[in-house]
Amino acid sequence: MSTTYQLDTSISRAHPTPAPMRRLSIPAIRQRKVDGLTAEPIVMLTAYTARQAQLLDAHCDLLLVGDSLGQVIYGLPSSVPVTLDMMAAHGAAVVRGSWHSAVVVDLPFGAYEASPQVAFASASRMLKETGCDAIKLAFLCQRGIPVMGHVGLTPQAVNVLGGYAARGRERAEADKIIADAVALDRAGAFAIVVEGVIEPLAIEVTRAVSCPTIGIGASAQCDGQVLVTDDMLGMFERVPRFVKRFEEVSEVVARAAQNYAAEVRARTFPGPDQTYQPK
Ligand code: KIV
Repeated sequence: MSTTYQLDTSISRAHPTPAPMRRLSIPAIRQRKVDGLTAEPIVMLTAYTARQAQLLDAHCDLLLVGDSLGQVIYGLPSSVPVTLDMMAAHGAAVVRGSWHSAVVVDLPFGAYEASPQVAFASASRMLKETGCDAIKLAFLCQRGIPVMGHVGLTPQAVNVLGGYAARGRERAEADKIIADAVALDRAGAFAIVVEGVIEPLAIEVTRAVSCPTIGIGASAQCDGQVLVTDDMLGMFERVPRFVKRFEEVSEVVARAAQNYAAEVRARTFPGPDQTYQPK
């Protein structure tokens, strides 16, 4: 993509040059996979803030406002306590900071499981309040709302699954994950995130569904890839084993903060008997 972004940090808005690109549509993403083949892999990263969206937008097809913001932004122990209000605020910020990628917002745990009516109310609120293009959930429902599904290691269900280990080693569990993916596909999901499964299962799921699969911790055999941006940037010391770190940004930030602090502390003040003379 050759577009250059001018980033106007004073008004928190990206200004692409030349003229603003059209945002990728959900049908355009869905149509990347034809007869079981995806010629151009789908690139997705998480984004939680307007500034982060501005920096990632031109390089991605999809920006995911994941409920991983519970851990990444709020320091929560899991994504379970994340609320609809949190997702709506961050979803709107990411939409404001992007022009090109389609924006998908997670419905958090508790916002859709009770009934299709509850799911519809939460999903439509998210579309209205954020301007996002689709929602993601780990459970199926469809009523004119573009849905991205999520199977395998769904972090929202970590309390039931009992941890973050890769799923699908047992045949029975693998069959259940494939059945969930097929059900999501038949219900009209435009894409399915496949998280934390062994490679042979990622291949089986990708072959079993007509819509694109987007892997995370699921090998390179899916139709696309997503990573938590802060993980691939090297913002945390500990990341899941499958994450490739493309930078060590936390070291850059720590070094900059250290240099800044040292410079401030090295300032000399006027002595008690001197009056300060502005320049
Ligand atoms: O919440 C999130 O960031 C996600 C990714 C792990 C796919 O669902």
